[in-house]
Amino acid sequence: HAKAMAAIPYTLYHGTFIHTPELDRLEIMNNALIGVNQKGEIDFVSSEYAGGSQEEAIMFFEQKTGESHSQFKYVDTSKDPLKFFLPGFIDTHIHASQYPNAGIGLESLLLDWLTDYTFPMEDQFTDTNSAKIELAKKVYSKVIDRTLRSGTTCASYFTTTDPHTSNIFADLCLKAGQRSFVGKVCMDHNETYPSYEESFEECQDSMSSMVKYISSINPHNETLVRPIVTPRFAPVCSRKLLKWLGSFASEHNLPIQTHIGENKNEIKLVADLFPECDNYASVYSDHDLLTNTTILAHAVHLTKAERLLIKKHLCSVSHCPTSNSFLTSGEAPVKQYLHEDKINVSLGTDVSGGFDSSILTIIRQAILVSHHLAMKSNDETDVKLTIPEAIFMATKAGAKAVGLEHQIGTFEKGKRWDAQLIDLNSPNSIIDIFDWQIKKDRKSMSDLLGKWIFSGDDRNCIKVWCNGRLVVDKTVDEWVFIKH
Ligand code: GUN
Ligand code: FE
Repeated sequence: HAKAMAAIPYTLYHGTFIHTPELDRLEIMNNALIGVNQKGEIDFVSSEYAGGSQEEAIMFFEQKTGESHSQFKYVDTSKDPLKFFLPGFIDTHIHASQYPNAGIGLESLLLDWLTDYTFPMEDQFTDTNSAKIELAKKVYSKVIDRTLRSGTTCASYFTTTDPHTSNIFADLCLKAGQRSFVGKVCMDHNETYPSYEESFEECQDSMSSMVKYISSINPHNETLVRPIVTPRFAPVCSRKLLKWLGSFASEHNLPIQTHIGENKNEIKLVADLFPECDNYASVYSDHDLLTNTTILAHAVHLTKAERLLIKKHLCSVSHCPTSNSFLTSGEAPVKQYLHEDKINVSLGTDVSGGFDSSILTIIRQAILVSHHLAMKSNDETDVKLTIPEAIFMATKAGAKAVGLEHQIGTFEKGKRWDAQLIDLNSPNSIIDIFDWQIKKDRKSMSDLLGKWIFSGDDRNCIKVWCNGRLVVDKTVDEWVFIKH
């Protein structure tokens, strides 16, 4: 592994780069030059480069930086107006173990869906016999492959309660090169499906051993794969477990992820189970689970008091519009969360409540759901999400949610090269673009972004890099996935 890292030469990327340094500020850098060092770090960004040959790019770099390298790699997409680089997508909420259930269970609402589809699926992984391990490997490899190929360079995953196969999942993320947060699911009482739960002590043991295991597999000084403390949601956790997980996260300085306010019956259940708490959000704050690296998934139905509490603790929301529509959970008013409450809102696929593992689809669905809210609102502009806002949520807000805002999410000096190359005219692309629609001005570029978001898919994502390493390259062979 260390050898593969050392083999990466200093790379200069020349082309169009699009990112969102702020909510609602989309920056399009045409003809820019970005330098990525051998450690996978962006250490040079210039939007002043006029273009030219490989030699001219290298000369420009050397003049600007006063530095040289014995070996350069030059990646030039500047001649093609239909190609652009975008920061890799960040999926802040996905259940890797539920991938086989994607698209299944349309007739159910959340609580029945968990009992009828989700717990039985996750229970399959909870066994140390070899057939179960083979199943875990098959499902986990597939979901990592699929998300990477859709441009997801970083994901915060839920696995299952089983520590053994959760460790296997961590191995697979590392092998594929995806930046990942591995959340072994913690739940110590399951009323509706009792065979799928663990004891408080089992959970303590497996959390401790997992944290050790994951830190042991990362190569020296790297933290591509990290653990995340994952109480599934309040209804399946005892007070004792919630409290212990809160202190475990603080002791080991770990991020936290859970579900909140997804469905009205779920909210009623939480109120019944925790009568001493003011509301759903205070169940978590009372057990020290709300921190500046807590990701709260769904957050469809929040009271003003809950929003204030979430903002006070600087938690992030993971908006999962596809899942919220599929399970008829509701329409989260994320425009208000962003602008009124100033909450950091990122995006999640929530596979398999969500049927699609691509964040591009989630961007599209987030915008459409906001339009549905607008149709019921008096002031549309307060509700409708813009394309820059949606791209911000998919990249920079995701970076903040997982506590990596200084490392990923935009193309800035000092950040890691986690990127995707989009080609609107890739082989098999289903986007039709007419000649007159291609001009290199801002208006035409934003039209093209609309085409990509509303009629593109993972076939337009032709290369993906994580931490400087090329992890997907569809230009070599449409269906080859590069494994390191
Ligand atoms: N709430 C608790 N567990 C889950 C889950 O697996 N998926 C969704 N969508 N909501 C949950
Ligand atoms: Fe979920």
